[in-house]
Amino acid sequence: MGRLIIVSNRVPSPRERLQPAGGLTVGLRDAVRGNESLWFGWSGATTDERDDDPLPSLDVVEGVTYATIDLTARQLEGFYQNFSNGLLWPLCHYRVGLMTYRRSDWETYLEVNALFARVLVEQLQPDDVIWVHDYHLFPLGQALRDLGVTNRIGFFLHIPCPPWSLMRSLPGADLLLRDMEAYDLVGVQTQEDVENMNQSFSLCGIAARAQAFAIGIDPIEFHRQAIASADTPAVRRLVESLHGRTLILGVDRLDYSKGLPERFAGFEAFLERFPQYRGKVTFLQIAPVSRGDVPEYQALRRQLDEQVGRINGVHASYDWTPVRYMTSPVPRDTLAGFYREADIALITPLRDGMNLVAKEYVAAQDPDDPGMLILSHFAGAAPEMMDAVLVNPFDPDEIADALALAMEATRDERIARFTPLDVEVRRSTASVWARDFLKALKAGLDD
Ligand code: ADP
Ligand code: G6P
Repeated sequence: MGRLIIVSNRVPSPRERLQPAGGLTVGLRDAVRGNESLWFGWSGATTDERDDDPLPSLDVVEGVTYATIDLTARQLEGFYQNFSNGLLWPLCHYRVGLMTYRRSDWETYLEVNALFARVLVEQLQPDDVIWVHDYHLFPLGQALRDLGVTNRIGFFLHIPCPPWSLMRSLPGADLLLRDMEAYDLVGVQTQEDVENMNQSFSLCGIAARAQAFAIGIDPIEFHRQAIASADTPAVRRLVESLHGRTLILGVDRLDYSKGLPERFAGFEAFLERFPQYRGKVTFLQIAPVSRGDVPEYQALRRQLDEQVGRINGVHASYDWTPVRYMTSPVPRDTLAGFYREADIALITPLRDGMNLVAKEYVAAQDPDDPGMLILSHFAGAAPEMMDAVLVNPFDPDEIADALALAMEATRDERIARFTPLDVEVRRSTASVWARDFLKALKAGLDD
């Protein structure tokens, strides 16, 4: 039985290696458990320009070897900030107007993928199975094949895949997609992503096919964490500060794909159209700064600062602030406790690969007295979570109506919506996702 090699640009930080944070880390931890495995990617640090390929720094935690390399400031800018996050991220989230294309960035993107391949190949053994993650590394499989690697290689895209009519806005999109032929298996989150990717493959004459594998979380562990956090100082202080008001919660990286300005507009419409709830609700939005060196993210941050200040200025009274907005991260266990206390989760991305926050919110609830999940149609999680209150986030009035519906729901109505959501979150876990993908990737290997 060969090792499992995981490759992603972002590798869990040393702290997360012991206490995994996101669903990806948890899911992959389950996948690597009991297997000898290696996780390779960027260290999160930069270094000076160099002539030779770096040696990865190695760190073994609970049987997993973490192998990471630094990137130079020039590589980080061209590969990560510009091409991955200034071009591929908006393109795949259907925001072609936000794309910035420069040929030199594509060259740096290919350069870093080739570097990853050269460093990784030195670590490989003949039986290893390689699993590459996300849009930073589309060309990695081909770069490995060019070096003579014949191992099984799978690829999973965590973000949406747009239809060819949008994808082709990227000059040379067909070249990027052609590299997918190097993979033995290409996985995406939803059926819609499968259709879009396969359409692009067909139209470009590319001999690859995508399959859907919806990522989940570890619901049992998250539920346990939410209960354990209820009696911690942070969660108690939050509850006391509410003075009995209904808590509406949003949790997202500060990213334009998350629909934050639209969400605040929806909350403002709710205050205006349902004045009976003024002074009775608190909307807590936790939005830690992400990719702060990318101009579009800086612009969004300024926009939100202005918008929240204005909403509070107009609607607050001397003893009530409608919106609490914070851009610092919250520890994961505290977050689980906040989810459990929240009466309503307001999760309204304009486009999202999956959205694990929606699944975490469900997992954190008390099944006898659950909260209400308001979820965008455009989250990858929506097809699995049809019992949530689904909204079109582009319409502030629809968000306002959903908030009013959630405020008025009886306990029986809340339970009726929650129960099927809970069943689904417990069925489609992170470990099922990893197991199914790896099973399909390895199919035929042991024959
Ligand atoms: P994305 O992958 O686009 O960031 P997801 O909703 O799929 O969106 O996953 C986000 C992950 O990051 C979740 O596991 C969530 O709990 C975590 N997260 C988001 N915001 C915070 C925060 N403020 N503090 C700690 N963890 C957070
Ligand atoms: C999304 C992407 C991941 C990425 C994460 C955090 O979940 O799918 O690939 O790692 O956001 O973004 P960052 O740029 O900080 O790695």
